[in-house]
Amino acid sequence: MTSPTSTASWNLLLAHRIDLGDANISAWFHADPQRAGKFSVEAAGIYLDYSKQSITDQTMAMLVDLAQEMNVVGWREQMFAGEQINFTEQRAVLHTALRNRSNRPISVDGKNVMPSINRVLQQMRGFAGAVRDGMWRGHTNELITDIVNIGIGGSDLGPAMACAALKAFGHPRLRSHFVSNVDSTHLAETLAGLNAASTLFVVCSKTFTTQETLTNAHSARRWLVDKLGADAAVTKHFVAVSTNAKEVSAFGIDVVNMFEFWDWVGGRYSLWSAVGLSLAVLIGMDNFEEMLAGAHLMDQHFREAPLEKNLPVILALIGIWQRNFMRAETYGILPYSQALARFPAYLQQLEMESNGKRVDREGNIVDYATAPILWGEPGTNGQHAFYQLIHQGTSVVPTDFVVALQGEYPLGDHQAILLANCLAQTEALLCGKDAATVEQELRSQNYSPAQIAQLTPHRVFPGNRPSNTLIMNRLDPKTLGALVAAYEHKVFVQGIIWNVNSFDQWGVELGKQLANQILSEFEVGAIGVQHDSSTRAAIARIHAKR
Ligand code: F6P
Repeated sequence: MTSPTSTASWNLLLAHRIDLGDANISAWFHADPQRAGKFSVEAAGIYLDYSKQSITDQTMAMLVDLAQEMNVVGWREQMFAGEQINFTEQRAVLHTALRNRSNRPISVDGKNVMPSINRVLQQMRGFAGAVRDGMWRGHTNELITDIVNIGIGGSDLGPAMACAALKAFGHPRLRSHFVSNVDSTHLAETLAGLNAASTLFVVCSKTFTTQETLTNAHSARRWLVDKLGADAAVTKHFVAVSTNAKEVSAFGIDVVNMFEFWDWVGGRYSLWSAVGLSLAVLIGMDNFEEMLAGAHLMDQHFREAPLEKNLPVILALIGIWQRNFMRAETYGILPYSQALARFPAYLQQLEMESNGKRVDREGNIVDYATAPILWGEPGTNGQHAFYQLIHQGTSVVPTDFVVALQGEYPLGDHQAILLANCLAQTEALLCGKDAATVEQELRSQNYSPAQIAQLTPHRVFPGNRPSNTLIMNRLDPKTLGALVAAYEHKVFVQGIIWNVNSFDQWGVELGKQLANQILSEFEVGAIGVQHDSSTRAAIARIHAKR
């Protein structure tokens, strides 16, 4: 397999980067009135404008060549065909099968997986409908009003993000809650507001062995049994989503109340599976399937559109350009949508757990950068917090602005103000404000020459800071599905170009192992000699306190 740095296009891109120097993006707009039209693409209800990036026709052509040289097309087919591209875990990567609304057969190990997928979707439909219609009730016959998803990582972030994003489509009687952290504050504060008789717990864990989830689930069960006074209450108040029927049963949930998924669904790619159960209950199965349909549309686009007109491929290539050639260390995700408040956190797992890797597929340590640090907050809040740095700081932070034209709660001119702010920020990042303009403004406000000289450097915006803008008409289930699928495929393409396995996550294991060992030392009181003195001192302090 090839290292990206040994391809012709990588080396051409390096030279091209030097040729571009500090080229000015605004000047390119002046020179080419077609620039915005040329550097934009639309698919599955998502419009991506990447014209405010530090790219030219030549940059894009070379980046597409890089994708070709790294065989993105071949790998893409392997993924869709269910081959074991997650080779360190010997697994296929088939989250696309979960939203395969065409129902064409897809095989894993020679077996068509579509019948199993459709069976679980039917099971979800039956359950979601029953809770929503009041056919499924609690132990004391009360209607369910609150759904608490207990899970972490991919078993939390996807449904939590989507439930927040699509709350406007939710059943008026139902509220969703998410408990992930093993810090008891999370569970205690969630349960404090709830009535056990009308609360349903969805314990979500691919492995059903995750320490945090099992600890929270056991505590939630104790709370429920205490409140309702009967072990039998668990049957009506706990369901499970997992690949591990044995552990689900061992926990005490009847497997008839278990929603299955499969090892070829990665945790961070599992929103489309029964991991989305709490979402399906909240918004209803028709809406859930709309989300699958939106993702399927994006899958078809990703699979069929030529690379240079392929939205997820372009998102990926822009990210590669910024990370490997413009040397950006971090990447900002800035949804101008309160409903997408959890989207940056969701993408953090998707991108950083997938491509935060330092060895390539052959096990060599890479000599190029892989995933950047991803971060973000919704606008306009971020404007009053960290935008100072992205406008005038010493680091250039490439950003994705994500916005829906129509809000779900029409109210005065809120949406117009939100949209104006979003566009204003992308324009300010692009154009900046030069010293002459600042001086002119200060003069017109009657500042003295001395004051103007003093203030001008502080008020200059360098501009030339790159951003993408992703625009949807409306954040509905279908568009959300397309948006999330676009980012999944972005991550896939980047992983192929960086020649890493995007589908394992060995980097989370060491901490888990050590935590178990340290936990046992608290209990026994004997501190292992292998610890460094800092860790030993902390364990001793904790032991003394206990
Ligand atoms: O610790 C990382 C991780 O394995 C994630 O990849 C996964 O999404 C999360 O833990 C939760 O795992 P599970 O669904 O098995 O509880």
